[in-house]
Amino acid sequence: MEPMSDGSSFFVTTPIFYVNDVPHIGHAYTEVAADVLARWHRQRGDDTWFLTGTDEHGQKILRTATANGVTPQEWADKLVEESWKPLLETIDLSNDDFIRTTEPRHEENVQKFLQHLYDTGFIYTGEYEGYYCVGCEEYKQAGDLVDGSGEYAGQRVCAIHSKPVELLHEKNYFFKMSAFAEQLLALYEERPDFVQPESARNEVLAFVRSGLDDLSISRSSFDWGVKVPWDESHVVYVWFDALLNYVTAVGYGQDEAEFERRWPATHLVGKDILRFHAVIWPAMLMAAGLPVPHRVFGHGWLLVGGEKMSKSKLTGIAPTQITDTFGSDAFRYYFLRAISFGQDGSFSWEDLHARYTSELANGFGNLASRVIAMVSRYCDGVIPAPGAFSEADVAIQAIERTATATASIAIDRLAIHEAIHEVWTLVDGLNGYITEQEPWALAKKPEERERLETVLYTAVRGLGTLAVLLSPVLPKATAKLWTALGGDGAVQDQRIDHAWEWSGAASVAPLEALFPRIETTE
Ligand code: ME8
Ligand code: MG
Repeated sequence: MEPMSDGSSFFVTTPIFYVNDVPHIGHAYTEVAADVLARWHRQRGDDTWFLTGTDEHGQKILRTATANGVTPQEWADKLVEESWKPLLETIDLSNDDFIRTTEPRHEENVQKFLQHLYDTGFIYTGEYEGYYCVGCEEYKQAGDLVDGSGEYAGQRVCAIHSKPVELLHEKNYFFKMSAFAEQLLALYEERPDFVQPESARNEVLAFVRSGLDDLSISRSSFDWGVKVPWDESHVVYVWFDALLNYVTAVGYGQDEAEFERRWPATHLVGKDILRFHAVIWPAMLMAAGLPVPHRVFGHGWLLVGGEKMSKSKLTGIAPTQITDTFGSDAFRYYFLRAISFGQDGSFSWEDLHARYTSELANGFGNLASRVIAMVSRYCDGVIPAPGAFSEADVAIQAIERTATATASIAIDRLAIHEAIHEVWTLVDGLNGYITEQEPWALAKKPEERERLETVLYTAVRGLGTLAVLLSPVLPKATAKLWTALGGDGAVQDQRIDHAWEWSGAASVAPLEALFPRIETTE
């Protein structure tokens, strides 16, 4: 069955990441969350677009490149090719586009946007003095700073980067952001799910209610950035430039039809950059007369020793450290299942190994191997036709339908962990069913032949449903399972909202272990 579009459009984005360093599992976390949403919506027949990319301008990148004796463009090219693009393969992302802020399609349209705001009176010249954190690429208020420790004891430092801020005084161009405070508050009021989760919404509300300043949007003390079109002695502030990637990548300024088709987006971001997305970005769009985002979800942090895992603190774990041993499916599953989406979470090798073993290897993988092996052994690999259904068979079919419906509702709320939990009721249900029905015992009694066939039929149907429902999270394992079950077409093309109606399957083929046992070396 060909998936049919029901006409809705779904556009999901991740932040575009700074190329000052290589990716760690925190970046990969946002990427896999967006990927699961994109795959889910594609399987629902939605007109889906998944955008990710890299943020390459600004002082942070310039300083890193200079310290490494290369130009910022050379540095960015190297990091993108050697580290950021390979990440897409490492965690099996299905992104439709990858935007770099140094591409002409971006730079030209950032200039168009800025010129438009200048022409319509939203930009003026001013002076600013304040404390700048290069790690955040942001001016900080006194209240954003905390007491330093260690080598920075006695100084006030950035609460996110734990490094001192720099006092800057510049003549800059300013965006009249303060003019949008009322409109922003009305937006949060009218659309309570615009900023999610609730804790993020409350933070943003409190911030805007305390009063909005205008925003300095240019820098003149260095030149690594998009030139301000009417004054080439200034470059555009890196955040103003970066936020625009979400529209320049889908045709803003150059392809009206594409822009209409895709925009607005669902933005997934870490809570570190919530204000940029939930305050500055919608204000910029309002000024330009463009629709604001569909929603902004600020997820939690992966913590190391109670602190945010970070490039600048050298606490990053490379995604390949996990995928080399456990594979990309387990990476995707673990972070989305173990952490409630929206909350912080601590990564531990023990927890990863324990969940891999009990949930993926024993729970799901073993179920698939056993059922397929029994169809081979007892039915020569031919999937049997069912006899009359018992209460237990009907109960499994009911779980298939319920899990499908409740998981989709959870996905709409961006509660990815709940969606996986709902689907897992079918894994657990089928495991319990096999234990109770004891097909190996039925196989010993010729008079129970019809019952045996009904049980194996029901189990195979349930497995196929699981393959369809888990395909967004476990694309590799479910593709193998789907092939072994003889399902029609490719599993990622199956309609997820009718998962239990999957077709194909005359006979099964052997299945290798989906999640082989992993010996720990500790
Ligand atoms: O902020 N836990 O880029 P960035 C969870 N270029 N997520 C984490 C994380 C952690 N410990 N560490 C990083 C920027 N992330 C800007 C964005 S968008 C127009 C410009 C993820 O390289 C999370 O998504 O510092 C966070 O928001 C993002 O990486 C920050 O990446
Ligand atoms: Mg950062």
